[in-house]
Amino acid sequence: MKSLKLSQTNDEMPTLGLGTWQAPPDVIESTVLKALDLGYRHIDTAFNYNNEEAIGAAVQKWISDGKGTREDLFITTKLPHVGNRASDVRKFLELQLRRLQMDYVNLYLIHVPFGFFCDPKKLTPIVKSDGEYELDSKTNHVETWKVMEECQKEGLVKNLGVSNFNESQIRNIMQSATLAPQVLQIELHAYFQQRELRDFCTENNIVVTAYAPLGSPGAKDHFVNKYNYSPDVFPDLLGLPIVKEVADNHGKTPAQVLLHFLVKQQIVVIPKSTSEHRLKENMQIYDFEMTDDEMNRLKKLDKGEKGRIFNFLFWKGVEKHPEYPFKLPHTGDLKE
Ligand SMILES: NC(=O)c1ccc[n+]([C@@H]2O[C@H](COP(=O)([O-])OP(=O)(O)OC[C@H]3O[C@@H](n4cnc5c(N)ncnc54)[C@H](OP(=O)(O)O)[C@@H]3O)[C@@H](O)[C@H]2O)c1
Repeated sequence: MKSLKLSQTNDEMPTLGLGTWQAPPDVIESTVLKALDLGYRHIDTAFNYNNEEAIGAAVQKWISDGKGTREDLFITTKLPHVGNRASDVRKFLELQLRRLQMDYVNLYLIHVPFGFFCDPKKLTPIVKSDGEYELDSKTNHVETWKVMEECQKEGLVKNLGVSNFNESQIRNIMQSATLAPQVLQIELHAYFQQRELRDFCTENNIVVTAYAPLGSPGAKDHFVNKYNYSPDVFPDLLGLPIVKEVADNHGKTPAQVLLHFLVKQQIVVIPKSTSEHRLKENMQIYDFEMTDDEMNRLKKLDKGEKGRIFNFLFWKGVEKHPEYPFKLPHTGDLKE
Protein backbone atom coordinates (compact mmCIF):
# COMPACT_ATOMS: atom_id res chain seq x y z
CA MET A 1 0.00 0.00 0.00
CA LYS A 2 2.19 2.85 -1.25
CA SER A 3 -0.52 5.50 -1.35
CA LEU A 4 -3.99 6.06 0.03
CA LYS A 5 -6.84 7.79 -1.76
CA LEU A 6 -8.22 10.85 -0.03
CA SER A 7 -11.98 11.24 0.24
CA GLN A 8 -13.74 13.81 -1.91
CA THR A 9 -10.79 14.66 -4.19
CA ASN A 10 -9.47 11.13 -4.83
CA ASP A 11 -5.94 12.53 -4.57
CA GLU A 12 -3.30 9.91 -3.78
CA MET A 13 -1.38 10.50 -0.54
CA PRO A 14 1.90 8.53 -0.37
CA THR A 15 1.98 6.33 2.75
CA LEU A 16 5.59 7.34 3.37
CA GLY A 17 6.53 10.97 3.85
CA LEU A 18 9.57 12.80 5.14
CA GLY A 19 9.07 14.37 8.57
CA THR A 20 10.98 17.62 9.04
CA TRP A 21 10.45 18.73 12.65
CA GLN A 22 13.79 19.54 14.30
CA ALA A 23 15.54 19.54 10.96
CA PRO A 24 17.38 22.88 10.92
CA PRO A 25 17.16 25.04 7.76
CA ASP A 26 20.85 24.60 6.84
CA VAL A 27 20.49 20.81 6.94
CA ILE A 28 16.96 20.41 5.66
CA GLU A 29 17.65 21.79 2.18
CA SER A 30 20.23 19.11 1.40
CA THR A 31 18.15 16.49 3.22
CA VAL A 32 15.10 17.20 1.08
CA LEU A 33 17.20 17.07 -2.08
CA LYS A 34 18.65 13.71 -0.97
CA ALA A 35 15.20 12.42 -0.07
CA LEU A 36 13.72 13.47 -3.43
CA ASP A 37 16.63 11.84 -5.27
CA LEU A 38 16.02 8.65 -3.28
CA GLY A 39 12.35 8.65 -4.28
CA TYR A 40 10.49 10.37 -1.43
CA ARG A 41 7.54 12.27 -2.91
CA HIS A 42 5.78 13.42 0.26
CA ILE A 43 7.14 16.03 2.67
CA ASP A 44 5.59 17.08 5.96
CA THR A 45 6.37 20.53 7.30
CA ALA A 46 4.70 23.26 9.38
CA PHE A 47 4.95 26.99 9.97
CA ASN A 48 6.32 26.16 13.42
CA TYR A 49 9.24 24.09 12.09
CA ASN A 50 10.85 27.25 10.63
CA ASN A 51 12.05 25.37 7.60
CA GLU A 52 9.46 26.05 4.89
CA GLU A 53 11.84 28.38 3.01
CA ALA A 54 14.60 25.79 2.90
CA ILE A 55 12.17 23.09 1.80
CA GLY A 56 10.82 25.39 -0.91
CA ALA A 57 14.37 26.08 -2.12
CA ALA A 58 15.15 22.36 -2.31
CA VAL A 59 11.96 21.59 -4.22
CA GLN A 60 12.61 24.46 -6.65
CA LYS A 61 16.13 23.20 -7.29
CA TRP A 62 14.91 19.65 -7.84
CA ILE A 63 12.30 20.89 -10.34
CA SER A 64 14.65 23.27 -12.15
CA ASP A 65 17.26 20.50 -12.42
CA GLY A 66 14.63 18.64 -14.44
CA LYS A 67 14.31 15.79 -11.96
CA GLY A 68 10.54 16.05 -11.59
CA THR A 69 7.57 18.37 -11.47
CA ARG A 70 5.50 19.94 -8.70
CA GLU A 71 2.69 17.55 -9.64
CA ASP A 72 4.91 14.62 -8.62
CA LEU A 73 5.00 15.84 -5.03
CA PHE A 74 2.68 15.78 -2.04
CA ILE A 75 3.49 18.68 0.28
CA THR A 76 1.79 19.10 3.66
CA THR A 77 2.02 22.15 5.87
CA LYS A 78 0.11 23.38 8.91
CA LEU A 79 -1.68 26.45 10.21
CA PRO A 80 0.16 27.41 13.43
CA HIS A 81 -1.32 27.78 16.91
CA VAL A 82 -0.74 31.55 16.67
CA GLY A 83 -2.86 31.72 13.50
CA ASN A 84 -5.65 29.46 14.66
CA ARG A 85 -8.54 31.81 13.92
CA ALA A 86 -10.62 32.58 10.84
CA SER A 87 -9.15 36.07 10.39
CA ASP A 88 -5.58 34.71 10.23
CA VAL A 89 -5.87 31.64 8.00
CA ARG A 90 -5.33 33.42 4.71
CA LYS A 91 -2.49 35.57 6.05
CA PHE A 92 -0.55 32.53 7.27
CA LEU A 93 -1.31 30.32 4.29
CA GLU A 94 -0.20 33.01 1.83
CA LEU A 95 2.99 33.60 3.81
CA GLN A 96 3.67 29.85 3.93
CA LEU A 97 3.12 29.49 0.18
CA ARG A 98 5.57 32.36 -0.43
CA ARG A 99 8.13 30.69 1.83
CA LEU A 100 7.60 27.36 0.07
CA GLN A 101 7.71 29.08 -3.37
CA MET A 102 4.55 27.18 -4.27
CA ASP A 103 1.15 28.07 -5.72
CA TYR A 104 -0.56 25.43 -3.59
CA VAL A 105 0.04 22.80 -0.95
CA ASN A 106 -1.44 19.34 -1.27
CA LEU A 107 -2.62 19.26 2.32
CA TYR A 108 -3.19 22.00 4.90
CA LEU A 109 -3.79 20.98 8.50
CA ILE A 110 -4.83 22.93 11.57
CA HIS A 111 -1.73 22.05 13.60
CA VAL A 112 -3.33 21.98 17.05
CA PRO A 113 -6.91 22.57 18.21
CA PHE A 114 -6.02 25.36 20.63
CA GLY A 115 -4.94 28.90 19.80
CA PHE A 116 -2.40 31.34 21.25
CA PHE A 117 -2.28 35.09 20.78
CA CYS A 118 0.41 36.10 18.34
CA ASP A 119 3.24 38.58 18.66
CA PRO A 120 2.65 40.35 15.32
CA LYS A 121 6.33 41.17 14.76
CA LYS A 122 7.85 37.79 15.58
CA LEU A 123 4.82 35.64 14.67
CA THR A 124 5.41 33.66 17.88
CA PRO A 125 3.11 33.14 20.89
CA ILE A 126 2.82 35.90 23.47
CA VAL A 127 4.13 34.59 26.79
CA LYS A 128 3.19 36.27 30.06
CA SER A 129 5.74 37.24 32.74
CA ASP A 130 4.95 34.06 34.72
CA GLY A 131 5.81 31.94 31.66
CA GLU A 132 2.19 31.09 30.82
CA TYR A 133 1.09 31.37 27.19
CA GLU A 134 -1.59 33.94 26.30
CA LEU A 135 -4.48 31.67 25.35
CA ASP A 136 -6.96 32.78 22.72
CA SER A 137 -9.95 31.08 24.32
CA LYS A 138 -12.23 32.15 21.48
CA THR A 139 -10.74 29.52 19.13
CA ASN A 140 -13.57 28.49 16.81
CA HIS A 141 -12.77 25.50 14.61
CA VAL A 142 -15.85 25.82 12.44
CA GLU A 143 -15.11 29.45 11.54
CA THR A 144 -11.45 28.65 10.84
CA TRP A 145 -12.45 25.67 8.74
CA LYS A 146 -14.82 27.78 6.61
CA VAL A 147 -11.92 29.99 5.54
CA MET A 148 -9.81 26.91 4.85
CA GLU A 149 -12.60 25.64 2.59
CA GLU A 150 -12.57 28.97 0.71
CA CYS A 151 -8.81 28.64 0.23
CA GLN A 152 -9.36 25.12 -1.03
CA LYS A 153 -11.97 26.33 -3.56
CA GLU A 154 -9.47 28.93 -4.79
CA GLY A 155 -6.88 26.20 -5.35
CA LEU A 156 -4.40 27.35 -2.68
CA VAL A 157 -4.73 23.99 -0.96
CA LYS A 158 -5.83 20.72 -2.50
CA ASN A 159 -6.92 18.87 0.64
CA LEU A 160 -7.76 19.78 4.22
CA GLY A 161 -7.25 18.16 7.58
CA VAL A 162 -6.53 18.58 11.25
CA SER A 163 -3.82 17.48 13.64
CA ASN A 164 -3.96 16.65 17.35
CA PHE A 165 -7.77 16.94 17.36
CA ASN A 166 -9.90 14.53 19.40
CA GLU A 167 -13.01 12.81 18.10
CA SER A 168 -15.56 15.34 19.32
CA GLN A 169 -13.55 18.21 17.84
CA ILE A 170 -13.51 16.45 14.46
CA ARG A 171 -17.25 15.70 14.71
CA ASN A 172 -17.89 19.37 15.42
CA ILE A 173 -16.19 20.40 12.16
CA MET A 174 -17.92 17.61 10.22
CA GLN A 175 -21.35 18.84 11.32
CA SER A 176 -20.94 22.19 9.57
CA ALA A 177 -18.33 21.53 6.93
CA THR A 178 -18.92 21.35 3.21
CA LEU A 179 -15.68 19.40 2.94
CA ALA A 180 -15.14 17.11 5.94
CA PRO A 181 -11.56 16.69 7.20
CA GLN A 182 -9.77 14.30 4.84
CA VAL A 183 -6.72 13.64 7.01
CA LEU A 184 -6.01 13.47 10.74
CA GLN A 185 -2.36 13.69 11.78
CA ILE A 186 -1.75 12.36 15.29
CA GLU A 187 0.96 10.89 17.45
CA LEU A 188 0.87 7.18 16.67
CA HIS A 189 3.42 4.44 17.32
CA ALA A 190 3.69 1.01 18.91
CA TYR A 191 3.23 2.37 22.46
CA PHE A 192 0.35 4.67 21.50
CA GLN A 193 -1.82 3.02 18.87
CA GLN A 194 -4.94 5.23 19.09
CA ARG A 195 -7.33 2.41 18.14
CA GLU A 196 -10.64 4.21 18.92
CA LEU A 197 -9.70 7.39 17.11
CA ARG A 198 -8.45 5.34 14.15
CA ASP A 199 -11.74 3.39 14.01
CA PHE A 200 -13.63 6.66 14.01
CA CYS A 201 -11.45 7.88 11.11
CA THR A 202 -11.95 4.67 9.14
CA GLU A 203 -15.74 4.99 9.55
CA ASN A 204 -15.57 8.55 8.26
CA ASN A 205 -13.07 8.09 5.39
CA ILE A 206 -10.39 10.13 7.13
CA VAL A 207 -6.82 9.05 6.36
CA VAL A 208 -4.67 8.83 9.48
CA THR A 209 -1.07 10.02 9.47
CA ALA A 210 1.23 8.83 12.24
CA TYR A 211 3.65 11.37 13.61
CA ALA A 212 6.51 10.20 15.80
CA PRO A 213 6.16 6.72 14.22
CA LEU A 214 9.54 5.67 15.67
CA GLY A 215 8.65 7.09 19.09
CA SER A 216 10.48 10.35 18.27
CA PRO A 217 13.88 9.36 19.73
CA GLY A 218 15.24 12.86 19.01
CA ALA A 219 12.51 14.56 21.07
CA LYS A 220 14.18 13.45 24.28
CA ASP A 221 17.08 15.87 23.76
CA HIS A 222 14.81 18.60 22.46
CA PHE A 223 12.55 18.53 25.51
CA VAL A 224 15.27 18.31 28.18
CA ASN A 225 14.79 21.21 30.63
CA LYS A 226 11.45 22.17 29.06
CA TYR A 227 8.67 23.07 31.45
CA ASN A 228 6.61 20.05 32.59
CA TYR A 229 8.65 17.47 30.71
CA SER A 230 10.83 14.73 32.07
CA PRO A 231 13.11 12.91 29.66
CA ASP A 232 12.40 9.70 31.62
CA VAL A 233 9.03 9.39 29.94
CA PHE A 234 10.51 8.88 26.47
CA PRO A 235 10.22 5.37 25.12
CA ASP A 236 12.96 3.44 23.34
CA LEU A 237 10.83 1.64 20.78
CA LEU A 238 13.83 0.94 18.55
CA GLY A 239 15.49 -0.94 21.42
CA LEU A 240 12.51 -3.14 22.39
CA PRO A 241 13.44 -6.87 22.33
CA ILE A 242 10.23 -7.84 20.50
CA VAL A 243 10.87 -5.22 17.80
CA LYS A 244 14.46 -6.49 17.41
CA GLU A 245 13.27 -10.09 17.27
CA VAL A 246 10.75 -9.37 14.49
CA ALA A 247 13.40 -7.34 12.66
CA ASP A 248 15.83 -10.30 12.84
CA ASN A 249 13.12 -12.67 11.56
CA HIS A 250 12.95 -10.66 8.33
CA GLY A 251 16.52 -9.37 7.99
CA LYS A 252 15.18 -5.87 8.66
CA THR A 253 15.95 -3.09 11.15
CA PRO A 254 13.81 -2.09 14.17
CA ALA A 255 12.84 1.17 12.42
CA GLN A 256 11.65 -0.73 9.34
CA VAL A 257 9.55 -3.01 11.56
CA LEU A 258 7.93 -0.07 13.40
CA LEU A 259 7.10 1.67 10.11
CA HIS A 260 5.89 -1.49 8.35
CA PHE A 261 3.65 -2.22 11.35
CA LEU A 262 1.83 1.08 10.68
CA VAL A 263 1.68 1.16 6.87
CA LYS A 264 0.35 -2.42 6.90
CA GLN A 265 -2.61 -1.01 8.86
CA GLN A 266 -3.21 1.67 6.20
CA ILE A 267 -1.62 4.43 8.22
CA VAL A 268 0.60 7.08 6.59
CA VAL A 269 4.03 7.43 8.26
CA ILE A 270 6.27 10.49 8.22
CA PRO A 271 9.56 9.49 9.91
CA LYS A 272 12.08 12.31 10.17
CA SER A 273 15.70 11.75 9.34
CA THR A 274 18.53 13.92 8.12
CA SER A 275 20.88 10.98 7.55
CA GLU A 276 21.11 9.60 4.01
CA HIS A 277 21.56 6.10 5.35
CA ARG A 278 18.42 6.28 7.51
CA LEU A 279 16.41 8.01 4.78
CA LYS A 280 17.11 4.95 2.60
CA GLU A 281 16.41 2.55 5.45
CA ASN A 282 13.05 4.16 6.19
CA MET A 283 11.93 3.65 2.57
CA GLN A 284 12.51 -0.09 2.55
CA ILE A 285 9.34 -0.98 4.41
CA TYR A 286 7.21 -2.44 1.66
CA ASP A 287 9.31 -5.44 0.59
CA PHE A 288 8.49 -7.81 3.46
CA GLU A 289 5.37 -9.08 5.17
CA MET A 290 5.06 -9.44 8.92
CA THR A 291 3.01 -12.47 10.03
CA ASP A 292 -0.32 -12.13 11.84
CA ASP A 293 1.38 -13.40 14.99
CA GLU A 294 4.09 -10.72 14.75
CA MET A 295 1.49 -8.02 14.09
CA ASN A 296 -0.52 -9.17 17.11
CA ARG A 297 2.52 -9.17 19.36
CA LEU A 298 3.30 -5.58 18.34
CA LYS A 299 -0.34 -4.58 18.83
CA LYS A 300 0.00 -5.75 22.44
CA LEU A 301 2.68 -3.11 23.06
CA ASP A 302 -0.02 -0.43 23.13
CA LYS A 303 -0.01 1.48 26.42
CA GLY A 304 -3.06 3.58 25.58
CA GLU A 305 -2.99 7.14 26.89
CA LYS A 306 0.10 6.35 28.98
CA GLY A 307 2.05 5.95 25.75
CA ARG A 308 1.53 9.57 24.70
CA ILE A 309 4.71 11.66 24.39
CA PHE A 310 3.32 14.89 22.92
CA ASN A 311 0.79 16.36 25.37
CA PHE A 312 1.97 19.95 24.71
CA LEU A 313 2.11 20.75 28.42
CA PHE A 314 5.54 22.26 27.76
CA TRP A 315 3.50 25.30 26.64
CA LYS A 316 2.74 26.47 30.16
CA GLY A 317 -0.97 26.86 30.82
CA VAL A 318 -2.11 25.24 27.55
CA GLU A 319 -4.33 22.75 29.39
CA LYS A 320 -6.53 25.68 30.48
CA HIS A 321 -7.52 26.33 26.87
CA PRO A 322 -11.13 25.25 26.22
CA GLU A 323 -9.97 23.27 23.20
CA TYR A 324 -7.06 21.46 24.89
CA PRO A 325 -7.72 18.03 23.37
CA PHE A 326 -6.17 15.39 25.61
CA LYS A 327 -6.76 13.63 28.89
CA LEU A 328 -4.72 15.34 31.54
CA PRO A 329 -2.16 12.90 32.97
CA HIS A 330 -2.86 13.84 36.62
CA THR A 331 -6.66 13.90 36.58
CA GLY A 332 -7.66 11.55 33.76
CA ASP A 333 -10.23 14.18 32.70
CA LEU A 334 -10.89 14.56 29.03
CA LYS A 335 -11.06 18.25 28.21
CA GLU A 336 -13.50 18.60 25.37
N1 LIG B 1 1.44 17.37 14.02
C1 LIG B 1 2.24 17.45 15.06
O1 LIG B 1 1.93 18.04 16.10
C2 LIG B 1 3.58 16.79 14.99
C3 LIG B 1 4.32 16.57 16.15
C4 LIG B 1 5.55 15.92 16.03
C5 LIG B 1 6.00 15.53 14.78
N2 LIG B 1 5.28 15.79 13.65
C6 LIG B 1 5.76 15.40 12.29
O2 LIG B 1 6.07 14.00 12.32
C7 LIG B 1 7.42 13.82 11.94
C8 LIG B 1 7.98 12.59 12.62
O3 LIG B 1 7.96 12.71 14.03
P1 LIG B 1 9.30 12.93 14.89
O4 LIG B 1 10.31 13.59 14.05
O5 LIG B 1 8.93 13.56 16.16
O6 LIG B 1 9.72 11.44 15.27
P2 LIG B 1 10.19 10.13 14.49
O7 LIG B 1 10.08 10.28 13.04
O8 LIG B 1 9.50 9.00 15.18
O9 LIG B 1 11.71 10.03 14.91
C9 LIG B 1 12.70 10.87 14.36
C10 LIG B 1 14.00 10.58 15.08
O10 LIG B 1 14.39 9.23 14.81
C11 LIG B 1 15.70 9.20 14.22
N3 LIG B 1 15.62 8.20 13.16
C12 LIG B 1 15.03 8.33 11.94
N4 LIG B 1 15.12 7.18 11.25
C13 LIG B 1 15.79 6.31 12.03
C14 LIG B 1 16.20 4.98 11.85
N5 LIG B 1 15.95 4.31 10.72
N6 LIG B 1 16.87 4.36 12.87
C15 LIG B 1 17.15 5.05 14.01
N7 LIG B 1 16.78 6.33 14.24
C16 LIG B 1 16.11 6.96 13.26
C17 LIG B 1 15.95 10.59 13.70
O11 LIG B 1 17.31 10.92 13.78
P3 LIG B 1 18.20 11.30 12.45
O12 LIG B 1 17.59 12.52 11.85
O13 LIG B 1 19.53 11.55 13.02
O14 LIG B 1 18.13 10.09 11.56
C18 LIG B 1 15.15 11.45 14.67
O15 LIG B 1 15.91 11.72 15.83
C19 LIG B 1 8.08 15.13 12.35
O16 LIG B 1 9.35 15.30 11.80
C20 LIG B 1 7.04 16.11 11.87
O17 LIG B 1 7.11 16.28 10.48
C21 LIG B 1 4.06 16.39 13.74
